[in-house]
Amino acid sequence: MVHIHSSIFGALAFASWAAANLIPSAPNADFKRADTWGGSVSLGPSKSTIVKAVTTIIPGPAPPTQNGVLFLWPGMSNGTGDLIQATLESWQSNSWCGATTGQWCVRASVFGWFGQRDGNASPVSGTDQVRIEYTLQSDKNTWLQTVTNAVTGALLSTYSSASGPYMRGYGTGTECNDGCSGTIAAQSYLNTVITLASADTTFGGTIATAGGATYSGLTSSDGGKVWSIASINIPAMSKAPQQTTTTSKAATTSKTTTASTKTTTRASTTSGPGGCSAAQYAQCGGSGFSGCTVCASPYTCKYSNDWYSQCL
Ligand SMILES: *[C@@H]1O[C@H](CO)[C@@H](O)[C@H](O)[C@H]1NC(C)=O
Repeated sequence: MVHIHSSIFGALAFASWAAANLIPSAPNADFKRADTWGGSVSLGPSKSTIVKAVTTIIPGPAPPTQNGVLFLWPGMSNGTGDLIQATLESWQSNSWCGATTGQWCVRASVFGWFGQRDGNASPVSGTDQVRIEYTLQSDKNTWLQTVTNAVTGALLSTYSSASGPYMRGYGTGTECNDGCSGTIAAQSYLNTVITLASADTTFGGTIATAGGATYSGLTSSDGGKVWSIASINIPAMSKAPQQTTTTSKAATTSKTTTASTKTTTRASTTSGPGGCSAAQYAQCGGSGFSGCTVCASPYTCKYSNDWYSQCL
């Protein structure tokens, strides 16, 4: 089953980068809608590449009523390629994964040019310790996401994707779409460990926080190859200033849409008069992007972050 949370960071790529760095630079521009972000902590880009990343999130209870869609995720990307992002999700009803009121649905997930692809989903409670591991496999191309209950070891979700050995950034995202009901409790990310292919002594210096998020215990070992953050705290959105990302192109939407939209249909590309036209989900902007910036009707080019805009 393919599920479009349509948007996102195509590459979140720096999702957190988005949250951390996408504060409006052109407030008078013609943005259409503003999505909101909770706090975040992110690192990157590394001079090396990430080969493994693991964290354990304690999400706190999901909002008892949900008016939009709310996602919590640790994400990893290079800014233009796939976004590896296991997501804890709050929809108007979370019964689709067997969750009851106050629980989240969690699933391994990847976002890219193809839209969103997900593993199976499981319910998790606010006090559960959800261990999320991303590991580059020995083929140096496949990323395996493994989501487990850190206490019981129960497997909650898994997904493999051919996302390549290019990951340079990692960060948390608390993403509010469609006028969501925001987080009502803080999230903790414990024992986050990011392993690089080779030492990068500057990686720790790239850490950034936004929206009242804090961290403690940033350390490195193995000469700067392994980076650990003992604890990350993301405050409840109801208790912290929210980030509003607005842009000159369009609003950021990330994992979006409705729970009932679970099929992806890639639109065919049609050329506009005298110009190019990018298909649904195609990249249409971003730093270093030189391709087509016009989207096929009825899609519009939505800004995700400085590195990525997408036809949605
Ligand atoms: C980012 O990753 C994609 C694959 O997901 C790759 O095609 C692209 O070359 C990478 N870009 C950089 C700058 O590493």
